[in-house]
Amino acid sequence: MATIDASLAPARPARRTDWLGRSATFCYLAIAAGQLLFVAFILLFYYPPTLTGNFAGWNDKPIIKGFVPGDTAGNLFFAAHVLMAAVLTFGGLVQLVPAIRSRWPGLHRWNGRLYMLCALALALGGLWMTWGRGTWLNYIGAIGITLDALLIIGFAALAWQAARHRRFADHRRWAIRLFAVASAVWFMRVGYMVWGLATGGAGIGKAMDGPFDLFLAFANSLLPLAVAELYLRAGAHGTPAAKKGVAALLTISGLVILAGSAGAWMMMWGPYI
Ligand code: HEM
Repeated sequence: MATIDASLAPARPARRTDWLGRSATFCYLAIAAGQLLFVAFILLFYYPPTLTGNFAGWNDKPIIKGFVPGDTAGNLFFAAHVLMAAVLTFGGLVQLVPAIRSRWPGLHRWNGRLYMLCALALALGGLWMTWGRGTWLNYIGAIGITLDALLIIGFAALAWQAARHRRFADHRRWAIRLFAVASAVWFMRVGYMVWGLATGGAGIGKAMDGPFDLFLAFANSLLPLAVAELYLRAGAHGTPAAKKGVAALLTISGLVILAGSAGAWMMMWGPYI
């Protein structure tokens, strides 16, 4: 199949449609739209009280453990966490734009360093908030987010090492995997919204301990990672049928993400701004 395909290539290159590339661009744009809404929420809801020292403002929205009077370390960790969350989310979107990488390699390098630094700080700080400060509702959820933190740390190290050794194909693969798992907390919010819209909230428990909560605790990082992996493999050595299959998956994922992001803005973020 691959041989027939390759032999046709010189005769009709212009008629080929790069479905995989186009669907990846569509999926990226859907992610970018949803993540920019998340960034807007963080900038409008968390930045003003955090930068003016009015930490009590965090609790104007339901969270597990935001501002706690007297808990200086915990409050400072939370403050650093939400400030870096916006930098990481925006920075990740910038890193993935090919035109920025090729036109301004210096920006890509410096933004990449900042992105990895924020990813490590969010993962390590998040681990401390979970296990040190005790911010969790149930063990399975806490273990799910811990797995995400470990994946972030591992993929950041591998992406950084590959870039340092100028192994750029490897660097791209690890950076895409890092983006997938560093976006897990955002995927989780989008996932809840899509599921809520589709089922009315079936399997969601009061303490986030229903079957859907437990599934999403791990799926928020492993599902995007699996889709990223399929995309990387189809792009590297997929048959034309595999490429079309992954293109369909990316298109559906993009549509689901758009619906979930709109829901998140309307129900989770917008009402608190
Ligand atoms: C790497 C990307 C991450 C981003 C962008 C991010 C973003 C955020 C944001 C915006 C909040 C405020 C809560 C809200 O409004 O819903 C938050 C809280 C929190 N994050 Fe993260 N986070 C990330 C990673 C992590 C990781 C890896 C962990 C754990 C290992 C973690 C643990 C926490 C905890 C415990 C809270 C407090 C939740 C609460 O009190 O309800 N975060 N994070």
